[in-house]
Amino acid sequence: MKIISHRGASAYAPENTLKAFSLAVEMGSRDFEFDVHQTKDGILAVHHGFDLKHTAGKKAKIAGLTYAELKKYNIAAHFKRDPGFQRVPRLEEVMDVIEPAARWLNLEIKNDGNVYPGIEEKVLAFLGSKPGLFEKTIVSSFDHGTLKRLRELSPEVRLAYLGHGLNAMLLLPALKKARAVGAVNFHMSLRIAFNLNVKKIKKAGFRVCIYTVNKKEDAQRMKEIGADGIFTNHPDILGKWTLKG
Ligand code: G3P
Ligand code: CA
Repeated sequence: MKIISHRGASAYAPENTLKAFSLAVEMGSRDFEFDVHQTKDGILAVHHGFDLKHTAGKKAKIAGLTYAELKKYNIAAHFKRDPGFQRVPRLEEVMDVIEPAARWLNLEIKNDGNVYPGIEEKVLAFLGSKPGLFEKTIVSSFDHGTLKRLRELSPEVRLAYLGHGLNAMLLLPALKKARAVGAVNFHMSLRIAFNLNVKKIKKAGFRVCIYTVNKKEDAQRMKEIGADGIFTNHPDILGKWTLKG
């Protein structure tokens, strides 16, 4: 089971910052997840929210800022233990830190309602710009239109369906949608990661990764029910926890 660092070592450093990614590498991560947005002037930038409320405490939207404007905000302001200045990194800066250590990368495109027109082309061009990067990256999005456009643009790109607000009733339609875009992975929340659901998804031919798993007992349960990976804010569990099975 893959132990995937979620937004870097985000339990120990402000999420999605170069500091969090460097720390994840130091902790031994080889599998990484991060979130990608696009600025007003077309720069791919790594941050979780569409605006800076949760991180910098400001309502400014990434879509409305140039990168020169965006990089002035302190996105560590929310992180009480270490609130010293950290900026939103560009995608290529994050890649410079993690790619040499990475065997698997999950690039999540945040693009609800196509707020960043053209982001799919930009991401695909970026993945093709460095040898080996395309092959070890899987692209996910909660926005189904984004997955569909990616598939239209590239028959080869590996896609992960991201299940949102799923329940037992919605699982079958979700599997259909995942199949329709040719996804190879199915990523879903720990809240609905029960044995039966995971078995159904695996039987349908997908690899299953679960977010966000920060407790040893949950990690152990995910391993027992056959999850292929867990996203965690504590990538140091690699060295600390021995999971049975
Ligand atoms: O990609 C897994 C997980 O990160 C999706 O949820 O809200 O943490 O981006 P979120
Ligand atoms: Ca994410």
